[in-house]
Amino acid sequence: MNSEALHTESDLTIGGEVGLDPSVDDDARLAFRNALGQFCTGVTTMTTIAPDGEQVGITASSFNSLSLDPPLILWSIADDTPSFDCFTVGDPFVVNVLAADQQPVAMKFAQSGPDKFAGVKTQPGLRGIPIIDGCVAHLECEVEARHPGGDHDIIVGRVHRVFNLRKAPLLFHGGAFHSLPGQ
Ligand SMILES: Cc1cc2nc3c(=O)[nH]c(=O)nc-3n(C[C@H](O)[C@H](O)[C@H](O)COP(=O)(O)O)c2cc1C
Repeated sequence: MNSEALHTESDLTIGGEVGLDPSVDDDARLAFRNALGQFCTGVTTMTTIAPDGEQVGITASSFNSLSLDPPLILWSIADDTPSFDCFTVGDPFVVNVLAADQQPVAMKFAQSGPDKFAGVKTQPGLRGIPIIDGCVAHLECEVEARHPGGDHDIIVGRVHRVFNLRKAPLLFHGGAFHSLPGQ
């Protein structure tokens, strides 16, 4: 975008971080992250089973709907995360949409390490993939495609079975967890 054009737009020039190109320097990259953080999302934990039989879980806010017919969803996984190779085409996985009281679950699966499932109640879903108890919704999927996207891969999932428990969701905004007012 031409930053010259912004000088006449007072609503675009009042604020802390304006008109920055994220590829220029660390300050601009931080401004990019902060701007992305203004997009309020829900929080999911993606679960699957690794080729060695280990249960895998990773917290992800990049989840979104993609297609209704066929039923497809997407999310992105960082290329430097240990779970990167655990979601290959044809693999089953579950999107666990976290509830407002599941911030501890979100934090547990946002850290690398062994025993991530210790103390987390689950049930085996399709093809034995762990479904986390107490969530708002679950989508049981299979990886349909993976597409490179910079330092992440976009994972496209075909949805085979859904559960909607109709609870209050956990939200993520500005680098912090929230819940809907009154819930
Ligand atoms: C709220 C929140 C959202 C996150 N969203 C993503 C995401 O969309 N994609 C991703 O790769 N990592 C995301 N992360 C970071 C991963 O959860 C974290 O790197 C985790 O350690 C990955 O699991 P692993 O280390 O076992 O691979 C998120 C973390 C938090 C707290």
